[in-house]
Amino acid sequence: MNNQTAANGKRQSLQGQWSTRMAFILAVTGSAVGLGNIWKFPYIAGENGGGAFVLIYLLCVFAVGLPIMMSEILIGRRGRRNPVTTMGIVGEEEGGSRNWALVGIMGIIAGVLILSFYSVIAGWAMSYVFSTASGTFVDADAAQVKLIFDELSGSWKISAFWHTVFVVITVAVVAQGVQRGLERLVKILMPALLVLLLVLLAFSMNSGYFGQAVEFMFSPNFSALTPNGVLIALGHAFFTLSLGMGAVMAYGAYLPEGTSITSTSILVVLADTGIALLAGLIIFPVVFSYGLESDAGPGLIFQTLPLAFGHMPGGVFFGTLFFILLSFAAWTSSIGMIEPAVAWMTESKGIKRGVAASILGGFTWVIGFGTVFSWNLWQDKTFFKGTFFDNLDYLISNIALPLGGLMITIFAGWVMCRNSTSDELSCGTGLMYKSWRFLARYVAPAAVILVLIEASSGGIVSDYLAKIGD
Ligand code: PFF
Repeated sequence: MNNQTAANGKRQSLQGQWSTRMAFILAVTGSAVGLGNIWKFPYIAGENGGGAFVLIYLLCVFAVGLPIMMSEILIGRRGRRNPVTTMGIVGEEEGGSRNWALVGIMGIIAGVLILSFYSVIAGWAMSYVFSTASGTFVDADAAQVKLIFDELSGSWKISAFWHTVFVVITVAVVAQGVQRGLERLVKILMPALLVLLLVLLAFSMNSGYFGQAVEFMFSPNFSALTPNGVLIALGHAFFTLSLGMGAVMAYGAYLPEGTSITSTSILVVLADTGIALLAGLIIFPVVFSYGLESDAGPGLIFQTLPLAFGHMPGGVFFGTLFFILLSFAAWTSSIGMIEPAVAWMTESKGIKRGVAASILGGFTWVIGFGTVFSWNLWQDKTFFKGTFFDNLDYLISNIALPLGGLMITIFAGWVMCRNSTSDELSCGTGLMYKSWRFLARYVAPAAVILVLIEASSGGIVSDYLAKIGD
């Protein structure tokens, strides 16, 4: 027995383990809850007409996201290595092929690319800590608030500065390793964020437009939903749960034996969804009460929340705290984006953690300039889906993550044998296990394939369904 194998013959992680189940839940929740929930979900829901989009999104989260999250964690724990090595060795052990490692490689590339744009937006959130604290938004009107956002995003130098700060603090935590760096942080920050969101919800509920926001978000108007909207909902289910690129798989590798993967995943998915819906219920009342456009795009939260803070009692305090926590939520998410790559470089290439994190941070930083420039120097250089940022976001969220998730669910559902998966999920062959297996083998792959065909063909599936319906 070598020192990488436990007494029970199972492999052990080379990077340490989570100290408790709670630490794991918080770390995965920390990775899941981030800009995706508070910045992205409201603006894509707004752009895609609200209710019907939210409904499809919820369906995708529970029928596709949840089984894929369970699959990622169980594969991760089985392999106990970085996602590339894990997919390779588990692939081979299960009678498949070592080439499954390619899924891990695709994930590593996706992670670095996600961080490249994520850090720019997170940088904006950090800069808002200072503008809110200095009272810039007190009594400001919608036009002034928009101007402040335009000045920030329009200046490549200021955006680049904050992007740099964010990349540096991400690298600093990742360099410290799993327990020291991550656990300590998420234990305090996640609960604090939730409390603050509830305070903001109370403000929105009193705005007089809460009912309109609820109606916008929950009464489905399917005529407002396009095939591309369905793809965006699916892509966002992957993005918001950090799935399809190995982040959750990497965290699963540090999960102690015996911890329930099923209940952990359900908790994380519920927490993530709850926070996204909460963010929508906070933001849309502000949008409606100030007559703003619900489809303002990536600038939405930066143009709505400061208005609320500028007009509420204690707004400077709450606003500052909010942007601090948003930056922290982004921080705990960003760590998961490069953890798979860092683990791979340390385990397979023998590179030290700190060096690996710095190299990856450097790559991300350079690519991030494409996103920085998307609101200034390159804002008119549009192609395919729009600016550099629009294309990168589309490629990652709507193509790479769903494809990665598809491969992962096919792997767990079809390549791995029943014994291995039921052993990892430790729920025997009962209803829970059967439900997971059914979703992982049939529902999740079919949904991803249908949505990809639907969006790339401009609606062939819905046309066909409409024809059958006639
Ligand atoms: N789930 C994060 C969010 O919603 O902000 C984004 C994310 C984190 C994606 C980590 C991928 C990842 F590996």
